[in-house]
Amino acid sequence: MVVLGIESSCDETAAAVLVDGELRSNVIAGQDVHQQWGGVVPELASRAHQEAIVPVVDAALKQAGVAREQVDVVAFTKGPGLIGALLVGTCFARSYAQALGVPMVAVDHLQAHVLAHFIRDGSGRPAPEFPFLNLTVSGGHTLLVRVDGPLDMTVLGGTRDDAAGEAFDKGAKMMGLPYPGGPLIDRLADQGDPHAFELPRPRVAGLDMSFSGLKTAFHDLLRRLERERKGLVEERSKDLAASLRHAIVDILVDRTREALRSGGFRGLAISGGVSANRLLRERIRVLGAQEALPVFIPPPAYCTDNAAMVAMAGHFLHAAGRHAGLDTVPVPRHG
Ligand code: KG4
Ligand code: ZN
Repeated sequence: MVVLGIESSCDETAAAVLVDGELRSNVIAGQDVHQQWGGVVPELASRAHQEAIVPVVDAALKQAGVAREQVDVVAFTKGPGLIGALLVGTCFARSYAQALGVPMVAVDHLQAHVLAHFIRDGSGRPAPEFPFLNLTVSGGHTLLVRVDGPLDMTVLGGTRDDAAGEAFDKGAKMMGLPYPGGPLIDRLADQGDPHAFELPRPRVAGLDMSFSGLKTAFHDLLRRLERERKGLVEERSKDLAASLRHAIVDILVDRTREALRSGGFRGLAISGGVSANRLLRERIRVLGAQEALPVFIPPPAYCTDNAAMVAMAGHFLHAAGRHAGLDTVPVPRHG
């Protein structure tokens, strides 16, 4: 059973191959064109996907030692994401599946982030048992999800405004750092004092979160420092990064702790780009230990956008017989 997975929802063109549920290749082409613009430019992303998709899929098949004719099912990300970017992957998958005469499956990107925990790559990493709680934190989404089965997920809460990754990226941008700023903030923060500056942790009802108040407070703080003395923001960049990271992670961990109270979970897991964050990983491990729950954190390569997780989702959807028609269109928004 050979599954070809294709991911093109944002600014990464990726393809992966699973053979009998085992990952055989995981190829990813990033897009440098966005860096100079301080964020992803949708039209540039679509064009870069168009250029990359054929070579990326070829490389994935080649690395897996699989011929095109051996592919049994084509899995692709149908959304959420940028419409133009999704269209490239969707159209490619449709033609590919039609040419090969094989079925295809349409994958929800957020479900795929959760299924990253089930990628088998020979490392012997254990998979979580059901039900588990998953905090999905990426550049576009922040969700607390109850996972009762590979395709049985319930959203318990999420952000009302910015995503956690967006909060990192926007904070970094305000400090004059290049896109994506999350990893840079993480690195700077390691050398700074997380208590140097006081920042708010706004609370909203239920298990929802909000990051816009924090963003505004951070913006005001930077302006105050810059008014005090030119160059002060740069001088204090490590302490600023540490304080921002501390606040974002506090908000995430606080809500995760509360979500665990809804009870009955057999594991605690995080996924999505922001789960590469060192402080978040550490704090989630501590929370798991406090609650006597095993913790699951994918290796960084499966946290950020990749096609291995899409192929994994494809594996489960195909097994459940949930195939997509050739008339499938991308769905840019989550709903
Ligand atoms: O899952 P992902 O690759 O793409 C989306 O689906 O959005 O997540 C990308 C996000 C970006 O906002 C990036 O800044 C953030 O993940 N990110 C991090 C770290 N590594 C990536 N944020 C904080 N700390 C990191 N180490
Ligand atoms: Zn993602």
